[in-house]
Amino acid sequence: MGLRSKFKKYKLHKNLPIETYVPSNKVKPEMMLEVVTAWAGLELIIEDILKRFNIGRDSCIEFGVEFGYSSVVFSNYFKKVTGVDIFMGDEHTDHKGDHYEKTKASLSQYTNIELYKSDYKDWIKKDNTQYDFSHVDIVHNYKETYECGLWAAQHSKCTIFHDTESFPEVRRAVIDIAKAAGKNVYNYPYHNGLGIIV
Ligand SMILES: C[S@@+](CC[C@H](N)C(=O)[O-])C[C@H]1O[C@@H](n2cnc3c(N)ncnc32)[C@H](O)[C@@H]1O
Repeated sequence: MGLRSKFKKYKLHKNLPIETYVPSNKVKPEMMLEVVTAWAGLELIIEDILKRFNIGRDSCIEFGVEFGYSSVVFSNYFKKVTGVDIFMGDEHTDHKGDHYEKTKASLSQYTNIELYKSDYKDWIKKDNTQYDFSHVDIVHNYKETYECGLWAAQHSKCTIFHDTESFPEVRRAVIDIAKAAGKNVYNYPYHNGLGIIV
């Protein structure tokens, strides 16, 4: 890491502090999908998080599936994974354009993953289910992360958020959501950062 990015990171951590999550164990899940993604590396700490906070293994909801890397990671641990995405990409993704059929085809062998082509805004209006676990990795703006993430924190025991190191707006939203939900917040500062609200 260069001096400039070290300083940027220092400022981010100073201005928006979050207690660091230190995993006790790193475990590679049995089933993994071979796709290029900024999420890679985080699969090693999911089991540790589930054990640490005693999270149930029935249901997981994910907002922001893209090509399915994180969905497949979760499919190792939960009976059912619900994946919600517009499957169009957004201002922060490299890939733009409809990728629903492509993702659906490559996830077809993971029968415990159900994909829905939907905006989180429509989804959260109609779903009152309580999930064991949730993941938010949509467009990395404050407003969308806060709105989707607050719903997720209120509808699951534990919510994780990707990109708390690479997008200060995500980090800010995570801190505010934890406050609003009256929950604890941790941050794992690797692989672009993972916020954990529990
Ligand atoms: C960074 S990618 C997700 C990466 C994925 N979690 C992985 O493991 O590689 C972000 C995804 O969020 C989706 N997205 C953006 N805005 C959304 C919204 N309002 N509702 C649902 N999905 C959205 C995009 O279509 C894109 O596929």
